Amino acid sequence: MNTSILKRASDAGIITINAVDIRDYSLDKHKKVDDYPYGGGAGMLMQAQPIFDAYNDVVSKNGISKKARVILMTPQGRTFDQRIVEELSKEEDLIFLCGHYEGIDERVIEEIVTDEISLGEFVLTGGELAAMVMIDCISRLIPGVLGSEESASDESFSDGLLEYPQYTRPEEWQEKSVPPVLLSGNHKEIEKWRVEKALERTKERRPDMYEKMLERLNECKGKYPRKFRKKRSLSEEIIRMREIENDERKEI
Ligand SMILES: C[S@@+](CC[C@H](N)C(=O)[O-])C[C@H]1O[C@@H](n2cnc3c(N)ncnc32)[C@H](O)[C@@H]1O
Repeated sequence: MNTSILKRASDAGIITINAVDIRDYSLDKHKKVDDYPYGGGAGMLMQAQPIFDAYNDVVSKNGISKKARVILMTPQGRTFDQRIVEELSKEEDLIFLCGHYEGIDERVIEEIVTDEISLGEFVLTGGELAAMVMIDCISRLIPGVLGSEESASDESFSDGLLEYPQYTRPEEWQEKSVPPVLLSGNHKEIEKWRVEKALERTKERRPDMYEKMLERLNECKGKYPRKFRKKRSLSEEIIRMREIENDERKEI
């Protein structure tokens, strides 16, 4: 959290990240925060009290509303994706609760957690890496975190397609040339090529996303048939749909 883009954003005061050690809230002289699960079974569970006291202290010390979302990192949660990133990037404060060992006493989850999120169908030893992944993704959507040279708007998932292939200098490398259209200076053709490539890639790698994109296009065509009267290729129709959606957003 303390290098590169996130460090720059922290230094500029755009984001503030506080790591809290739950052990500091243990009432045990050895700072123990775990115990055996009732009913038996393998492993240890994090106890409710240190987590609850840590939460209350974080909220009061930082002037955070008790309505702030508290996100439990858990393989049992809703699977993390860019839609969740967009949703959470609009929140003022977020609290991430990272489990360890076999997990956390259910009662404190009921008491403070508002969202349960999983990074995917695998099991980590603790929630910290998952929380760091989330913090990284969310931070980059906060205005000012990415500099003008970095942009979050054209990326994979940002508009329902995977990103098109990209190239930088030199024009020729290992006898491979940059696609000529990218050197043409014709912005319309470049945009069309990029959407075509994004469609090809998405169809091949994420057929589910591709199908959703076609459904979205059909919905838009159903809503605005007159705007699609002229015959267009699929990539041109997608560009048209994005223009229409942008106009709709501006009107709102
Ligand atoms: C070993 S796991 C506990 C798994 C738990 N016994 C279960 O089966 O649901 C320890 C901690 O790692 C974190 N964790 C593990 N896998 C995760 C995932 N896929 N996404 C988010 N957090 C995860 C959670 O915070 C969890 O409490």
